[in-house]
Amino acid sequence: MPVNQVLEEIKRRHSEAEAGGGQAKIDKRHERGLMTARERIARLFDQGTFVEIDKFRVHRCTNFGMEKQKVAGDAIVTGYGEVDGRTVFAFAQDFTVFGGSLSHTLAEKICKVMNMAMKAGAPCVGLNDSGGARIQEGVESLGGYSDIFCLNTLASGVIPQLSAIMGPCAGGAVYSPALTDFIFMVEQRSYMFITGPEVIKSVTREEVTQEALGGAATHNAKTGVAHFMAPDDAACIDQVRRLLSYLPSNNVDAAPIIDIGDPLERLTPELNDIIPDDPNKPYDIKSIIEPTVDTGSFFEVHASFAQNAVVGFARIGGRSVGIVANQPKVLAGCLDINCSDKIARFVRFCDCFNIPIVTFEDVPGFLPGTQQEYAGIIRHGAKIVYAYAEATVPKITVITRKAYGGAYCVMGAKHCRTDINLAYPSAEIAVMGADGAVNIIFRKEINEASDPDARRKELVDDYRSQFATPLQAAELGYIDGVIAPAETRIRIGQALAMLANKRDTNPPKKHGNIPL
Ligand code: HXC
Repeated sequence: MPVNQVLEEIKRRHSEAEAGGGQAKIDKRHERGLMTARERIARLFDQGTFVEIDKFRVHRCTNFGMEKQKVAGDAIVTGYGEVDGRTVFAFAQDFTVFGGSLSHTLAEKICKVMNMAMKAGAPCVGLNDSGGARIQEGVESLGGYSDIFCLNTLASGVIPQLSAIMGPCAGGAVYSPALTDFIFMVEQRSYMFITGPEVIKSVTREEVTQEALGGAATHNAKTGVAHFMAPDDAACIDQVRRLLSYLPSNNVDAAPIIDIGDPLERLTPELNDIIPDDPNKPYDIKSIIEPTVDTGSFFEVHASFAQNAVVGFARIGGRSVGIVANQPKVLAGCLDINCSDKIARFVRFCDCFNIPIVTFEDVPGFLPGTQQEYAGIIRHGAKIVYAYAEATVPKITVITRKAYGGAYCVMGAKHCRTDINLAYPSAEIAVMGADGAVNIIFRKEINEASDPDARRKELVDDYRSQFATPLQAAELGYIDGVIAPAETRIRIGQALAMLANKRDTNPPKKHGNIPL
């Protein structure tokens, strides 16, 4: 073929790839308020930085007359570019071509960018919008999924992997996003489930809508499968960009420093009045987190799930930290199964990617009840200890109020290699609360007293003044210092600076066996 004809053909193929499934389908998406795969990619990357690869690649299926239906690029756009000046790899499934379904070629394109991302040490973002396995390709398509799952697993802990679900994601296809670090979903537009409403109806006779079964609200609030929720495509991609700004590109590099000029020596006097005098009164732990970190930098993860714990990224002095906290406002901050999973997974993510962990602790204990015990709170709660104990990143814990019993032990305690443990004067660090303790150790004495109620009150007051303080823990060195709330930012900033070159290791092993 003469060169000018080759050039013409190249031009034609560019146009074919860019048209995807055709203008009619693109218009239909726009009418529904949806972006195309290419528009999503354009929103994700800094302007003009995206480099597409495999743009002319086509599927190889010959079943059902498929050889006559080929579109350059198949049903996906893949490549790399810059997000805030740093290299990121991405793929965006194109629903206008065979419903974004996964052909073997499509799987190969995804695996190629993932392999490139791992070699380049850069995050990989998947923008998912697909009808699942390409039905015409049979098991070849399933093989493609398995190839992706395997790479997701190998890349885990090496590069950050983010998944945005922007349309359908059903059947086994859900497992690629599920294997990545964070899942974003678009409200009313995206859904994830293993079996859809029709199958459920025929098997169990349950009737449920797609949205109720696997929509963004369900996975953000109920199942915890998703970590972020956005009202539309653009907001979802903006959230992806924001999350990337807190993360290093890989498990060796440091996260970018974004210094907004908020001084590290800033006092936080507004924190002096947050903890109520009444130990049973709730308060919002975010009113401690937000003034402590760089102004406006707190980015909550899993905001709607297991709200008795709060986790998220923030910056202190421009450097990324992972924040973990109990939330006294919800279930009094008790630890339960869902919040154990939420905390453990977040701590492990931070440890994978060298992000220091700052813990704010106010926890009366584990949530009592048969529901929790039968569902395995022992196994799930153990994940928190495991995650904190194995983490070698800088770890700082501030006990703001309660740190009772097993909950004291698991939430970033000194004994699990936390570097700096601080406590407010309002901290209560003891085996259990005063009422419970007195009822157990003084039962006989109370029963035999002439006025049992008065004696109980006396003993409770005595226990409170002796144990419901940070003093015993400070005497033992279990906490390194009792600090005024106004010093919170300064003391954490000093600890982070001191720990900037921290090196710690775990005993050699293939991998540990976290109680899953
Ligand atoms: C091939 C597919 C397809 C698929 C959709 N299309 N899904 N082509 N394989 N899996 C095509 C349609 O034929 C149609 O082509 C176009 O994409 C758009 O689909 P519509 O049905 O018109 O769109 P919509 O009404 O929006 O419905 C979207 C949908 C529906 C809900 C996703 O298409 C659907 O139910 N698809 C099948 C989903 C499914 O069961 N997939 C297999 C899951 S099992 P035309 O030419 O008409 O535009 C699986 C196993 C993975 O994925 C296991 C991994 C381990």
